[in-house]
Amino acid sequence: MTTTVAVALPGREYDVLIGTGLLAGAGHRIAALGGRRHVAILTDATVAGLHLATLQAALADAGLTSDAKVLPAGEGTKSWAALEACCDFLLDQKVERGDVVVAFGGGVVGDLGGFVAAILRRGVRFVQIPTTLLAQVDSSVGGKTGINTLHGKNLIGAFHQPSLVLADIDLLATLPRRDFLAGYGEVVKYGLLGDAAFFDWLESNAPAMADGDISARVHAVTRSVQMKAEIVLRDETEQGDRALLNLGHTFCHALEKATDYSDRLLHGEGVSIGCALAFELSARLGLCSQEDPSRVRAHLKAMGQKVDIRDIGGDIPDAETLLGWMGQDKKVIAGKLRFVLARGIGQAFVTSDVPADKVLGVLRDAA
Ligand code: GLY
Repeated sequence: MTTTVAVALPGREYDVLIGTGLLAGAGHRIAALGGRRHVAILTDATVAGLHLATLQAALADAGLTSDAKVLPAGEGTKSWAALEACCDFLLDQKVERGDVVVAFGGGVVGDLGGFVAAILRRGVRFVQIPTTLLAQVDSSVGGKTGINTLHGKNLIGAFHQPSLVLADIDLLATLPRRDFLAGYGEVVKYGLLGDAAFFDWLESNAPAMADGDISARVHAVTRSVQMKAEIVLRDETEQGDRALLNLGHTFCHALEKATDYSDRLLHGEGVSIGCALAFELSARLGLCSQEDPSRVRAHLKAMGQKVDIRDIGGDIPDAETLLGWMGQDKKVIAGKLRFVLARGIGQAFVTSDVPADKVLGVLRDAA
């Protein structure tokens, strides 16, 4: 069972394959891209322990040798130090302009690996093999790459599109349930931002999907990737519509900073809270009916998601501090905070016209 979503960016077209058994068949697909018969893999310790042998056997089946750089798992790896270590590894591997680097892991490895590929020899090709739900539906598609700094997340990076994305649904079977549900925050985001019928479908089918239903997983990942591809085609470098993909993210980034980017709050959990708060803010601004945030919250809660700041647990800075951090978000333009708000489920839009006192009210009530 494999579906294909074409990302038809002129001159940088690529396919996202979504289905089962894709890892075992990865060698031939990667070999078909050309380059030397040697592949450099960037991965993390968790993924390496579970799946690296399968990937390397698949490459060997296609006559490709490979070496892997195994990085520590976790957000801390999206760092200057890891970037340097990866560049040195790839240069030691004598990776050339025509070669293909494989980023094999979740969002951290994909973002870091993509950025390394963007800057190594001024750009080499790379293949994304995302191993988490979050990476399959969001970060592996669309070419955003980068690392974090002391100043915040993803502030150093580049747009660099992969040459192929292999989203093997089987890999989600080894994902801890918490990580799967965190990725679900990004799935539900697509329904909320632009496809009410998909949100309806999720209300009925997401519980089975979380419990392991393969065809539901293929459908949910495919629909999410289709929506992302459509938006990226309209606005690759986020001059306009691509910002819709940041529904919930302005709140989320402040909450991630508040929790030191630790596993107190996973990114997708922050997106879930952020989506709930963005709909609450939309209702308070009279943009949508109060039923919409209630429905969003009810579904997220039914899926075991966090919806309020208090669901994070432990100390969180006050609303004024969080609002100040939102002002550090890279989506700020001319000092004005940009929010993605909604006129209803599936009807998101971007605005800078949000009174601070309304945001503070939402933050205080969620604390
Ligand atoms: N994750 C948001 C984007 O790719 O634009």
